[in-house]
Amino acid sequence: MGRTIQIAPSILSADFAHLAREIEKVESAGADLVHLDIMDGHFVPNITIGPPVVSSIRRFTGLPLDVHLMIERPEQYIDGFIQAGANWMSVHAEADVHLERTLHYIKDNGLRAGVALNPATPLGSLEEILPLVDYVLIMTVNPGFGGQEFIPSTLKKIRRLKDSIVSSAYQVRIEVDGGVGPDNLAKVLTAGADIIVAGSAIFSSAKGASEAVREMKGIAEQHLKVLESV
Ligand code: DX5
Ligand code: ZN
Repeated sequence: MGRTIQIAPSILSADFAHLAREIEKVESAGADLVHLDIMDGHFVPNITIGPPVVSSIRRFTGLPLDVHLMIERPEQYIDGFIQAGANWMSVHAEADVHLERTLHYIKDNGLRAGVALNPATPLGSLEEILPLVDYVLIMTVNPGFGGQEFIPSTLKKIRRLKDSIVSSAYQVRIEVDGGVGPDNLAKVLTAGADIIVAGSAIFSSAKGASEAVREMKGIAEQHLKVLESV
């Protein structure tokens, strides 16, 4: 199968009083996943949502729920998010000293398991667990808030990770998260990203969330066409 690119709107920048309506906009525009940012006020300096909100969203949308845990001691909370209906789950390497066990647990429960890395965390920390994961989430901002500026040096990190995945032949996808939108999407795709998280570029877009998703899907399709033609 050829390369696929998925667009994952992050509801962090959505209107939380009208979540269903916000998700409906991106779903009907062709979003592939819904990205849910879980923050505990410890691992990152912000607090967001827990399993009850995830469970309400689960009842509303058929899209896979991509849960990004920015929390300390993630292993203590995973069951709650699994029961709430998460389909994909990423855990920060910096937050879990027993990452191998946690990732196995997520996979054993039938979810896709991902490991997330902060901008300052080297790719070397993936060495022992790359064969285990379904995806690596490369943070392209420091986690905690939506609307921050993309950190340019992360492009090289994405490319280096892509190279090591290709040479290892592991089936691992690269998700990028933070400061990505229509303006820099092409660069991120060229570096090797497969799953694109975007919060403010979608939900705070002057064009509206649906149009922003369509625009990003269009850029992704264009990128794939160019790749096929070379
Ligand atoms: C940041 C979160 C992101 C956030 C991205 O800590 O992990 O998912 O929603 O927001 P934007 O796309 O606005 O940078
Ligand atoms: Zn996220």
